[in-house]
Amino acid sequence: MPITFDASSHIFKLDTPSSSYAFMLFSENYLVHLYYGPKVPDIAPLAALMDRGSYDSFSPRNPALITDRSFSLDFTPQEFPGPGCGDYRIPAVEVRSPAGDTVTDFRYVSHKIYPGKPALEGLPATFAQEGEAETLEVEALDPVTGVKAHLLYTVFAQHDAIARSVRLENTGVRPVDLERVMSLCLDLPTMDYDLIHVYGRWAKENTTTRTPLRHGCQSFASRRGMTSHSYNPFAALLRQGAGEEQGEAIGVGLIYSGNFSFEVEVDHLGCPRLAAGIEPSTFCWRLEPGESFQSPEAVMVFSQQGLGGMSRTFHRLYNQHLIHGEWAHKKRPLLINSWEAAYFDFDAAKLVEFAQEAGKLGIEMLVMDDGWFGERCDDHRALGDWQVNEEKLGCSLSELIAGVNQAGLKFGIWYEPEMISPDSDLYRAHPDWAIATSGRVNSQGRYQYVLDMTRKEVRDNIFEQMAGVLGSHKIDYVKWDCNRNITEAASAALPPERQGEFFHRYVLGVYDLMERVTKAFPHILLENCSGGGGRFDAGMLYYSPQIWTSDNTDPIERLSIQFGASLCYPVSSMGAHVSANPRAGIATKGAVAMMGTFGYELDPRKLTEEEREAVKSQAAAYHKDYELIREGDLYRLTDSAENRNFCDWEFVSPDKERALFTRIIVRRPDLVFQTLRLRGLDPEKLYLEEETGRICSGALLMSAGPGLCVNPWATKDGDCIVRHYTAQP
Ligand code: GLA
Repeated sequence: MPITFDASSHIFKLDTPSSSYAFMLFSENYLVHLYYGPKVPDIAPLAALMDRGSYDSFSPRNPALITDRSFSLDFTPQEFPGPGCGDYRIPAVEVRSPAGDTVTDFRYVSHKIYPGKPALEGLPATFAQEGEAETLEVEALDPVTGVKAHLLYTVFAQHDAIARSVRLENTGVRPVDLERVMSLCLDLPTMDYDLIHVYGRWAKENTTTRTPLRHGCQSFASRRGMTSHSYNPFAALLRQGAGEEQGEAIGVGLIYSGNFSFEVEVDHLGCPRLAAGIEPSTFCWRLEPGESFQSPEAVMVFSQQGLGGMSRTFHRLYNQHLIHGEWAHKKRPLLINSWEAAYFDFDAAKLVEFAQEAGKLGIEMLVMDDGWFGERCDDHRALGDWQVNEEKLGCSLSELIAGVNQAGLKFGIWYEPEMISPDSDLYRAHPDWAIATSGRVNSQGRYQYVLDMTRKEVRDNIFEQMAGVLGSHKIDYVKWDCNRNITEAASAALPPERQGEFFHRYVLGVYDLMERVTKAFPHILLENCSGGGGRFDAGMLYYSPQIWTSDNTDPIERLSIQFGASLCYPVSSMGAHVSANPRAGIATKGAVAMMGTFGYELDPRKLTEEEREAVKSQAAAYHKDYELIREGDLYRLTDSAENRNFCDWEFVSPDKERALFTRIIVRRPDLVFQTLRLRGLDPEKLYLEEETGRICSGALLMSAGPGLCVNPWATKDGDCIVRHYTAQP
């Protein structure tokens, strides 16, 4: 049993294959956190270490409730701390009571442990069958407000991961306002950690940053209504001295696509508290008696193999327990997208020519990007008018699809369902459907407004429009785009006291629409996008197995973007295409896109003969290495953000029978010989290095490396080296 409750010590212990997490019921039923770290057999001795030497005057306690004078909320690690009763650190929850204060004091009431994992109403979350996971549900009550917290912990049998969330239920008789609901609160006993997360902007997503924890608060957040290019809802705490493949790392990923916040406070005693959840300053939720509010889910991962081990656990977990539907494990077609090849300048004849050329090269699907609907001749108009522009195409959509299918390719299409152009029939008919605040001029982003997805009639309209096209055509793929952030946030359909619910309701509305579309058209492969990686998050991954990682297709700049995304997200989810970008040759562009879903975004008619041959062999490599890349373990060997010359990575199949090593020469090196060690191989096995015919033991490859001799005189910036390894019988 991965979850146990010891009735004599009152300790809950949650064991994953290599980690333990523990908390206890301390005096008067406080939920006191005890431990998160490498797997240990015994926890009880830790319970004796509560006395941290508080100074009574400035660590007030409730004498009626807390008789043990060595115990103070001022420094006690807690599972679900509220403010106002002596814990002055960042709280997990803030509830404005009918009396107007925000004091809460949650105490344990009961618990249950059961196999499997419950779904979270209206929200994407990890899933597991009985036998794959076990769940602990703890009920804690704040008796004055009557708010009951249902704390959920799911332990996965095969992964060093624990999923957490909280549902708040108003069991009182008067409404309360939830002003802060964190999905996860984690207290640690030492500040000996570095905080790692990613930041960026459009076309430069996922730059990794690492800073030591310090006293006070460190935080990052999105208030854009969406995940954003600026930050990603993921953070890692890396034990000082730990690195890519060694030492302890704790990763926290939020399965959410709206405003989020990650906060770490190191208190006066040097103990960090990490809280992650919905961004509180843009959130306030009125909870009527009898109602419940479900927080998004957070996933904690523990690794003793550094960041790499943490990433690999996230990858496996998300591949097996988050991404779902027909396409979760089905082989994805090798696609070509029209955007960078044609932008808005296309008709059916041109697209069919693309398909015919692409078909000869082994490409399997053509995606018609933006520009096929309404009066959409540029990005100034027509979002919301999802009717096929036959005049522009020069034929019906069915005829276009038939032409593409005849060339042997499947067909995909682009949508931006959450948006509305001021110059659109939809806006002229329903101007109040755009998000707006009364008395203010609406901001525009890319000449567009955002639809009020909190409103069912808006979602119904968009669903009907989408279903009209998707239901009557042979469409195999949809790219779901989202090209601006939210401003002037308010809904005409919400009363003033509920406007604080807007941002979260927006996300719930988007999830509802995605659920409807994916349920109605389960055969369609959905790819998310938000001006590239502006909504690359685990919430979106639940609905769409892949997400366009960045609008930047420069293969060298892509390296740090993809490495940053891979901290938390599997390569099977990272949309990556070969484009006409001149920064490197087609071999390198292919090698970089292969660390992702792989596809093309160029005019196939303009390829040289040499490039055509390269595309054909890349298409063959795509099929040959598909399983290895999608199911294999990723090792980030050399990070281009840290090394001026190289970026190196490796995939190793789960059975260690095959490996794929890639080196990108970012900048021509001065040294000829480079020692680089491979990882993850079986030291006992002999591997054939396919490109050279050498046979080396796994031990040699992991100690002396693949023996890369880079002749500076015969090497250019942007070259690549690719090596395949196959274990010999
Ligand atoms: C966004 C996407 C691009 C493309 C355009 C179309 O920028 O990221 O890939 O689909 O929209 O307008």
